[in-house]
Amino acid sequence: MKDFDGKVALVTGTTGIGLATTRRLAAGGAAIIACGIDRAANAAMKAELESSAAEALVIDADVSVPDQVRDAVAAGVERFGGLDIIVNSAAVHPYGTAVSTDFDTWNRAMTVNVGSIYLTAHFGIPEMIRRGGGAIVNVASVQGFACQQNVAAYATTKGAIHTLTRALALDHARSGIRVNSVSPGSIRTPILEKAARGENGTDADVEAAYKRFGEAHPIGRIGEPEEVAELIAFLCSAKAGFCTGADYKIDGGLTAGIGVK
Ligand SMILES: NC(=O)c1ccc[n+]([C@@H]2O[C@H](COP(=O)([O-])OP(=O)(O)OC[C@H]3O[C@@H](n4cnc5c(N)ncnc54)[C@H](O)[C@@H]3O)[C@@H](O)[C@H]2O)c1
Repeated sequence: MKDFDGKVALVTGTTGIGLATTRRLAAGGAAIIACGIDRAANAAMKAELESSAAEALVIDADVSVPDQVRDAVAAGVERFGGLDIIVNSAAVHPYGTAVSTDFDTWNRAMTVNVGSIYLTAHFGIPEMIRRGGGAIVNVASVQGFACQQNVAAYATTKGAIHTLTRALALDHARSGIRVNSVSPGSIRTPILEKAARGENGTDADVEAAYKRFGEAHPIGRIGEPEEVAELIAFLCSAKAGFCTGADYKIDGGLTAGIGVK
């Protein structure tokens, strides 16, 4: 018996941490509903899951659009019979201060990074209640605690995710639904690669940047998406039955100290 046999999991974001989490949950026996806006990544994930014989529905969807989230949940429930797990990993990462960020960019960050979590909860929780409970894990960030410069919109969304996680946990605990967030430090994924290349750079030495980012973490390296996926899988599993309303840092000690190397 595998840890997610008989479970149905919806995961948003089909690259990076979302991809690693999908692989981990599928390997654990879960049927997968994966939603992402990156069609090439979706196609690659679909091919990979089909070749591993996992049960999966990979849906091209913008998770900030209500109808698209509603339809994805409905399609998954129709195909697999219900919904037990939601992992919200999709996000955008705009750079800018409040002055340099235009209002459309600000609103896009809010609707993708936070609005999508509201939407998967809005459409998904009634399905979880029908199953007698479930688990939600939201991917936040260390930037929800202490942020860098020039990421005003992104950092704000991550603080909001911590708060929304607590609100969902309190409102739905008595329905058997546990809600937690994870807050990663630097993790080797496409978002970090974009940061490594810099706002405008394309020919930056990405590995050198990863080494530099890693040195800022007391553990001395950046993290891997599989390490985050393992924590998410634990929080989704029955072993985490008393965990709800909390954030779990996975940051190599980054936020434990003040400027420690
Ligand atoms: N990598 C890091 O260093 C790091 C650190 C802290 C937090 N995080 C968080 O981890 C999560 C996953 O990011 P990642 O590191 O895997 O990077 P990533 O870029 O691989 O993942 C983000 C995913 O979201 C998808 N996406 C963006 N807008 C979407 C939309 N409107 N609809 C559907 N999908 C959409 C992208 O296509 C991408 O697949 C994000 O919430 C990110 O903020 C990452």
